[in-house]
Amino acid sequence: MSRSLRTGQILVGLASFSATALCANSTLFHGGTIITFDEASQLPVALHGSSLLVTGDSIAKIFESSDNVTLPTGTEIIDVAGKIVSPGFIDTHRHSWQTAYKTLGSNTTLAEYFGRYGEFTQAGTVFRPEDIYYGTLAGLYEPLDAGVTTILEHAHGTFSNETSNAYLEAVIDSGVRMAFCYAFHELSNGFSFEEQLANFADLMKNERLNSQDLVQIGIAYDAFIQDNNNTRAIVNLVNSKNVSALTMHFLGGPWGNTNSPSKLDQLGLLNGTTPVVFSHASYVTTDDAELLRKHDQYISTTPESEMHFKPASGYRALYLGNWNVPRNSPMSANQAFTLATRSGALALRRPDLGVLATGNKADIVVFDGDSPNMLGWSDPVAAVILHSHVGDIRHVMVGGEWRKRDGQLVTKQNRTEVQTKFLDSAKRIQKIWLETPLPEMDGEFNGMSNVDYVDAYTIDAVRGNGTGY
Ligand SMILES: *[C@@H]1O[C@H](CO)[C@@H](O)[C@H](O)[C@H]1NC(C)=O
Ligand SMILES: *[C@@H]1O[C@H](CO)[C@@H](O)[C@H](O)[C@H]1NC(C)=O
Ligand SMILES: *[C@@H]1O[C@H](CO)[C@@H](O)[C@H](O)[C@H]1NC(C)=O
Ligand SMILES: *[C@@H]1O[C@H](CO)[C@@H](O)[C@H](O)[C@H]1NC(C)=O
Ligand SMILES: *[C@@H]1O[C@H](CO)[C@@H](O)[C@H](O)[C@H]1NC(C)=O
Ligand SMILES: *[C@@H]1O[C@H](CO)[C@@H](O)[C@H](O)[C@H]1NC(C)=O
Ligand SMILES: *[C@@H]1O[C@H](CO)[C@@H](O)[C@H](O)[C@H]1NC(C)=O
Ligand SMILES: *[C@@H]1O[C@H](CO)[C@@H](O)[C@H](O)[C@H]1NC(C)=O
Ligand SMILES: *[C@@H]1O[C@H](CO)[C@@H](O)[C@H](O)[C@H]1NC(C)=O
Ligand SMILES: [Zn+2]
Repeated sequence: MSRSLRTGQILVGLASFSATALCANSTLFHGGTIITFDEASQLPVALHGSSLLVTGDSIAKIFESSDNVTLPTGTEIIDVAGKIVSPGFIDTHRHSWQTAYKTLGSNTTLAEYFGRYGEFTQAGTVFRPEDIYYGTLAGLYEPLDAGVTTILEHAHGTFSNETSNAYLEAVIDSGVRMAFCYAFHELSNGFSFEEQLANFADLMKNERLNSQDLVQIGIAYDAFIQDNNNTRAIVNLVNSKNVSALTMHFLGGPWGNTNSPSKLDQLGLLNGTTPVVFSHASYVTTDDAELLRKHDQYISTTPESEMHFKPASGYRALYLGNWNVPRNSPMSANQAFTLATRSGALALRRPDLGVLATGNKADIVVFDGDSPNMLGWSDPVAAVILHSHVGDIRHVMVGGEWRKRDGQLVTKQNRTEVQTKFLDSAKRIQKIWLETPLPEMDGEFNGMSNVDYVDAYTIDAVRGNGTGY
């Protein structure tokens, strides 16, 4: 601890300190490299030899470590010398309830996913409330461990009042910051659209939800293309409720699922106050892109999935395919970092997230700087994007509260118990899926004309006739 730190009285010069903030806990991350944000370029910038003070759920001050600063009473001081202090990461597309499927779909394709793992399969009857609860909770430990502090959940494990309620409970229990986008869907298990609307209204009034501010309700809907009463009900709901986000799967091309910006614009949903996040946007058109810019709305891209959804394009096609050799890299580490932090926050219209700045929420990730893979870094953004792994993440804070500390998750639950319950649930579910025949994939995909199933060329690492997989 440096001699220039003084505890015992309130930091002078912080006019915004409120009475409640006085009693709140404070934490000082002292003497490290802090990735902050340059307003002029809108890109990350590193402050070396700096400190960050958290008070309550927010960042109170970022200052040079050599500055003489008086700290609030009881401030806890965390030495971050040699470490990198980063804003928490923002994941704008996730389905946390599906954790029990882990490794089941290791060779899967999107077409197989639809018929086997998606929301319209037997999942709607097999997953019980406790499966959704423990799958979601155990599933959310992973992003928290990895420094993801905010998630937009496309919450389609809404199979009954009970699974929806359990889902929301798990999210609140996890301590992650989330836009919990309740999925409305036409299910075959008897949970009607009308009941979903009633269930949603109940959740909006949920006392636990309304007594905290990390988790907020949003809406997910994938059938905007259908001009029917359900779609009208969703449009009305978005217009009448002040929800945190609206999200939809938008693929296009041979996949259908054309919940495009153009479609949403026709329905008058792009120009309202609700942020709209289009996931994948694999076949986005120029007109769609212009609408997104005009209305300040965003897409969420999931690179590994995108490889299933769309032919490889971009770099290879644009340059090498034309026998041109680019002299620069198309994407910098700064750009990648911005996508994973600031851009995700803006997609949710939360400028108070994704950037470490005074007044913003204290969603903070601290990376070790001296592991075998990190040693030798000078640019902290490049170190995080190109060299770090989850094991380097020493501390994670969400809204000023510890979620990981000294390399260990901090949970409100007894993790041993959660793991046991989750494993029981996952074992039951995995057994059912392993015993279920794979979907038939003959003829046309999803009844779409001119979209045929074909066999993919497969990689074989074993010489000779090989083993197939
Ligand atoms: C901090 O306080 C010490 C002791 O009062 C003083 O020597 C030093 O110059 C101060 N540093 C700054 C940056 O004001
Ligand atoms: C992956 O495919 C191989 C070959 O078809 C099969 O033996 C294996 O069980 C599959 N794995 C999973 C998890 O489906
Ligand atoms: C689900 O909750 C809604 C709203 O409270 C209620 O109207 C409906 O009857 C419930 N359905 C079941 C099956 O309990
Ligand atoms: C759609 O709603 C209208 C009016 O709200 C109603 O008259 C009509 O029967 C509904 N259609 C269906 C298919 O539910
Ligand atoms: C909508 O919700 C946000 C976040 O909870 C709040 O800041 C805003 O004032 C609300 N707007 C309206 C019109 O209620
Ligand atoms: C959005 O645009 C539609 C026309 O496309 C218009 O009717 C509606 O009033 C606009 N809404 C807002 C909030 O500006
Ligand atoms: C404040 O500190 C107390 C005691 O150390 C702890 O139990 C509590 O969780 C802390 N609150 C926050 C918001 O971190
Ligand atoms: C957590 O649960 C396990 C298994 O039930 C139990 O053995 C252990 O004592 C519990 N730990 C705490 C800290 O309560
Ligand atoms: C390899 O494949 C060829 C042609 O399909 C077949 O004739 C041969 O028996 C196979 N060899 C082995 C070892 O399976
Ligand atoms: Zn998805």
